[in-house]
Amino acid sequence: MNTIDAACVIPWEISINSPSDTPSNGAEQATSELWTIKRLLSWTTDFFREHGAGQSRLDAEILLSEALGCPRIELYTRFDEEPPETVRGIFRDWVARHAEGEPVAYLVGQKEFFSLKFEVTPAVLIPRPETEHLVTEAIDLIRDSKADSVPIIDVGTGSGCVAIAICKHAPQANMTACDISDAALDVARQNAQAQGVSERIDFVKSDLLTHVPQPTRFHLIVSNPPYIGLSEKADLDKSVIDFEPHLALFSTGPDGTETIQQLLEQSAQRLELEGYLLFEISPMIAEHCCSLIQEHTSLQLERVVKDLAGHARIVIAKRIA
Ligand SMILES: C[S@@+](CC[C@H](N)C(=O)[O-])C[C@H]1O[C@@H](n2cnc3c(N)ncnc32)[C@H](O)[C@@H]1O
Repeated sequence: MNTIDAACVIPWEISINSPSDTPSNGAEQATSELWTIKRLLSWTTDFFREHGAGQSRLDAEILLSEALGCPRIELYTRFDEEPPETVRGIFRDWVARHAEGEPVAYLVGQKEFFSLKFEVTPAVLIPRPETEHLVTEAIDLIRDSKADSVPIIDVGTGSGCVAIAICKHAPQANMTACDISDAALDVARQNAQAQGVSERIDFVKSDLLTHVPQPTRFHLIVSNPPYIGLSEKADLDKSVIDFEPHLALFSTGPDGTETIQQLLEQSAQRLELEGYLLFEISPMIAEHCCSLIQEHTSLQLERVVKDLAGHARIVIAKRIA
């Protein structure tokens, strides 16, 4: 993403009533001069594209529909409408901030995950589409278990997206969700409430599984743990490193596998026999994670699931002893 003084170059601050924009003969203004929805979207898409800011058209549409308070699809039926000055002001501010790296999800305060809407604040990671594989794998294993109540824990719940999506699709899920961050747990609780599953999730503040009450054993431990190595800090996109919580991104050491290694140790103690640990990884640490599992006498590597881009993304291990 390029560094720019975005606020200075967005043109629709110039009110259509300003002298330079007003037709000299006072005749009605040509539609082409108005900042219609169509023109705002087109200008903003080009602007984001030039400045390498995200998925330009989609981002422009999300921001404008939020500013207008209407569903995104409705923009297409209102192309010739000029939004009022207040809406253009909000949109302008968001466009400038996004062009300088601020993620759309934080600007509008929400993100879709597993076809559900989640509130997000800068205290939580923005849910990623790759993480949906963690949910689908967990749901499949819950269905396979045939039990009426399946004890599950989501470690590092963040916005709660994984725990909540599982609960929505698996009525047998008896869910605990933990995080080390109080602020994240507050967001997760609100999301659970909004999705009508707060009664089904026990939220616990815990450093991994350390403070999760004993002697509970889980059939599934799911986690999207922080797995970026501290040594990779310099390679991250500005929109990630400057805005997303470092607690959610970075493992505790240079390699990215340190938090996962701790999770493996604890999971070996806290899984039921024949229970499963599922966790998200970056493809770069896939091999290392598999060999960490193979070192455990009580864990067996089941499989590694690839994401839609063909990258190793989810590791599944089973407790065998
Ligand atoms: C990569 S984010 C995942 C958030 C959410 N589950 C998702 O998939 O979008 C990792 C989460 O783990 C939490 N976390 C980091 N270290 C932790 C620890 N030692 N114990 C518990 N949670 C931790 C962070 O606060 C963050 O919410």
